[in-house]
Amino acid sequence: MLKVVAPMAGITDAEFLNKVIPLGFDVATLGGYSLDAPTIEASKRIVERGRNEFVFPVEETFSHIENEIASIKRVHGSVKVSANVRSTTPQPIIDIGNIADLDIVEINCHCRQEEILSVGCGQEMLKRADLGDFISEVVDNVDCEVSVKIRGNVEGVDTLEIACLIEEAGADYLHVDAMKKGVFDADYTLLKNICNNVQMKVIGNNSVNSELNAQKMIKTGVSGFSIARGVISGNLSFNISNF
Ligand SMILES: Cc1cc2nc3c(=O)[nH]c(=O)nc-3n(C[C@H](O)[C@H](O)[C@H](O)COP(=O)(O)O)c2cc1C
Repeated sequence: MLKVVAPMAGITDAEFLNKVIPLGFDVATLGGYSLDAPTIEASKRIVERGRNEFVFPVEETFSHIENEIASIKRVHGSVKVSANVRSTTPQPIIDIGNIADLDIVEINCHCRQEEILSVGCGQEMLKRADLGDFISEVVDNVDCEVSVKIRGNVEGVDTLEIACLIEEAGADYLHVDAMKKGVFDADYTLLKNICNNVQMKVIGNNSVNSELNAQKMIKTGVSGFSIARGVISGNLSFNISNF
């Protein structure tokens, strides 16, 4: 079972990840990072209204991420490092995916901040007619593995259909925030349906904050689970090493 630190913009940098990896994580996710002019401008607007983001000028983003990866690999040589990224076009994602020591580039089809949605990124990506081609272009042009992070149950989107499209596009991992409006737990039925219909590795996300919820997540058939808010303090309230 893969245990993944989920991305939290403004929080999951190398310093934070180096502290929490020893809790038992196999994959550490940096970011989310905005990579091109439209998404960087959107991130700036998010910061202006007081929300945390990692914001760098477009020409500094590459070297910043490269240095963050090196800072983790120096301390934790065997952990896989992933970078969660947003861009309106595939090329900046391909550039990051070709950083020598990056293990996984994760295409962010998940954020729901209005500023990111207004440039067609985050969960709005799930509605793009060219989503499959976008993902394939990244898959075909990077040396590392490719993950796609999606939000489940987005209005107007058939999550299962999207999962199959992402598999067809050649992604290695589908990272699913199995959120369901009005429910303060993951949508385990959705995860089970996805796992029954795709061969790629599925990483289940949402509300893994106890041993019980981790077990419920594992029972759906996922290859791994990820944790964001449950580790935001720098600690976990339960032991993940046994999974
Ligand atoms: C402060 C914060 C920042 C986040 N930033 C990102 C992000 O940049 N990219 C992303 O894909 N998900 C982001 N997320 C979503 C988490 O990765 C995760 O999907 C969500 O919090 C549900 O998982 P959890 O119940 O373990 O927290 C963020 C979550 C939080 C709390």
